[in-house]
Amino acid sequence: MPGTFTYTALTPENAAAVAAFPQNPTELFYMFPRGKFPFTADQLLKTAATRFDPTVCHLDGEPAGYAVFRKLEPGVQATIGNVVVNPALRRRGVCKALMQHMIELARTKHGVSEVRLAVFNENTAAILLYASMGFTPHAVKARTGDDGTVSALLMMRMDVSIN
Ligand SMILES: CC(C)(COP(=O)(O)OP(=O)(O)OC[C@H]1O[C@@H](n2cnc3c(N)ncnc32)[C@H](O)[C@@H]1OP(=O)(O)O)[C@@H](O)C(=O)NCCC(=O)NCCS
Repeated sequence: MPGTFTYTALTPENAAAVAAFPQNPTELFYMFPRGKFPFTADQLLKTAATRFDPTVCHLDGEPAGYAVFRKLEPGVQATIGNVVVNPALRRRGVCKALMQHMIELARTKHGVSEVRLAVFNENTAAILLYASMGFTPHAVKARTGDDGTVSALLMMRMDVSIN
């Protein structure tokens, strides 16, 4: 059974569950490069307050994934960020469903014609996932981690305009 996906806002009540999703500093770096591991509900709520539509995906009622709009220019474009999935529920289509939900939200609520996101070059799983959904790379930026390691941040975008 694939299960039922539902979506709610991030709240002080569900933030601790989401903050427990990144399993190690690398996963937190992929999701939120400025976060400090172990991630906490407080860090998550503080960053969410500066972003748009912080969204929790639930699979059969269980907190399963999280994403926000990191940047939003209504009528033009939205940038999805802070994407992470509950480690117990990975490879069950949670991220794909959540991305589809965020794209529909961007299109219907905010009227954008383009959705963007950024993914580190080491994050093969996420690159393959986003590419399979139709995101294409359009730029590469250098990003330095806390340990001095330089990564390539792949900037991806998708045209979501209704023609
Ligand atoms: C990357 C991540 C969000 C994927 O979430 P998920 O819910 O497991 O992904 P989905 O089940 O929707 O995967 C959809 C497709 O993406 C690809 N994919 C996902 N995880 C993969 C992996 N570990 N290895 C290879 N391909 C992968 C596959 O094509 C998959 O389809 P399939 O399972 O039918 O083969 C999750 O692993 C995660 O939270 N990682 C840590 C934080 C992170 O990297 N966030 C992304 C920041 S840009």
